[in-house]
Amino acid sequence: TERTLSIIKPDATKRNLTGKINAKFEEAGLRIVAQKRIHLTKAQAGIFYKVHAERPFYDELCEFMASAPVVVQVLEGEGAIAKNREVMGATNPADAAPGTIRAEFAESVGENSVHGSDAPETAAEEISFFFAGLEIVG
Ligand code: GTP
Ligand code: MG
Repeated sequence: TERTLSIIKPDATKRNLTGKINAKFEEAGLRIVAQKRIHLTKAQAGIFYKVHAERPFYDELCEFMASAPVVVQVLEGEGAIAKNREVMGATNPADAAPGTIRAEFAESVGENSVHGSDAPETAAEEISFFFAGLEIVG
């Protein structure tokens, strides 16, 4: 089975949507094998999203990710990376399929409620950015 890194973003934690979002993951067959609530600094958010450093929205993205607590989690299941991205929906909620997390909860392309790793290499890197091996209980 595969693992992926998920983040419930500040717009969602502020609106008390953690449970509803976790229900979507579990209904899709994704198991939450690690989870913690943390408040990132802007510098930490900048390191996490360093691939976007040259994008015009980078500063805004880092500010947003540090604006309130997030819930970081490891999701496990068959094809977890692709399955999670399917449950999340498109980056822009206006384009997200009905029933997806972003269609139901996201506020805008920036404040879009969840993050999910996009490939096996990034999943491994992002999981180890937030979690020690002993914190993941499969
Ligand atoms: P993540 O799972 O968060 O990585 O989303 P994604 O893979 O669907 O999108 P991408 O990696 O292209 O962008 C990362 C994040 O940057 C998005 O989830 C948004 O929060 C933010 N972002 C992307 N495009 C824009 C934009 O045009 N404006 C703003 N403000 N934020 C953006
Ligand atoms: Mg991405």
